[in-house]
Amino acid sequence: MTGAAMTISHYLQFKDLSADSYAYLFERAAFIKRKFKAVEKYQPFADPDRTLAMIFEKASTRTRVSFEAGMYQMGGSVVHLTTGDSQLGRAEPIEDSARVISRMVDIVMIRTFEQSKIEAFASHSRVPVINGLTNEFHPCQILADIFTFIEQRGSIQGKVVAWVGDGNNMANTWLQAAELLGFTVHVSTPSGYEVDPVLAGITNPGCYKVFKDPREACAGAHLVTTDVWTSMGYEAENEVRRAAFKRWCVDEDMMRTAQPDALFMHCLPAHRGEEVSAEVIDGPQSVVWDEAENRMHVQKALMEYLLLGRLA
Ligand code: CP
Ligand code: NVA
Repeated sequence: MTGAAMTISHYLQFKDLSADSYAYLFERAAFIKRKFKAVEKYQPFADPDRTLAMIFEKASTRTRVSFEAGMYQMGGSVVHLTTGDSQLGRAEPIEDSARVISRMVDIVMIRTFEQSKIEAFASHSRVPVINGLTNEFHPCQILADIFTFIEQRGSIQGKVVAWVGDGNNMANTWLQAAELLGFTVHVSTPSGYEVDPVLAGITNPGCYKVFKDPREACAGAHLVTTDVWTSMGYEAENEVRRAAFKRWCVDEDMMRTAQPDALFMHCLPAHRGEEVSAEVIDGPQSVVWDEAENRMHVQKALMEYLLLGRLA
């Protein structure tokens, strides 16, 4: 168990790690993925057994399966908590929950609402805390997306990523990644749904460019990516958003303005006919299934790094 006096590394935002750490993580994820594909056991968490607590205050398919399967594959164990089946739903302070849970497990993954909530948990935790999605950021997803890009096309440095749609947790995280890893995000959102570079802590305004027309944002892009029009927690705005986002559907015409070999990504779940056409998400440029699978490989590398440090 990690001692309270030791320095604990958390992963609450993409900018919590350096470019050098990301270079290590991408190599490590590739190694861990190779082991998985070769059906070779790789169990650094077996002895002593390490336990991951997963806390979900919002729904999930990919995050839950990727963390849970990944932890078992590495020889560890998993505890799964939700708001409904824990005292978190009965207003136990997040700080108290952190103090208790982190005395019993080795690492915690949380999916919640405000970023301030995960920060409060982390500051009272004895063990590393990973952001499994907040209203503001989704760093594990961007970690998987960039790993997927590198697998398919090599380094992302100097490339153009087009973000089409809501200026949400995914978009803010792309901005952080662009600043840190040296690429540019071309952002197009309806007005009123802009990205938040201040919240993302962007200091180099050159890492992103804003376009009114989503087609212009996609022009020459190496990767086109989007997300749902209504994120979890914003369901009451669904109808208003549907009207506002009508022009922000990634379709084949939009993809044609990008590089001929541009990739399409979507963190999923997707709504065909809303933010993306079926032809694009199910078409030859889409890498969404690799992207989803890679959540598991990169998160295994991330947990290994946070718990055991650099191994190679
Ligand atoms: N992309 C993603 O985080 O999916 P889930 O909501 O299913 O976990
Ligand atoms: N932006 C979406 C991502 C879902 C994985 C949401 O927060 O609901």
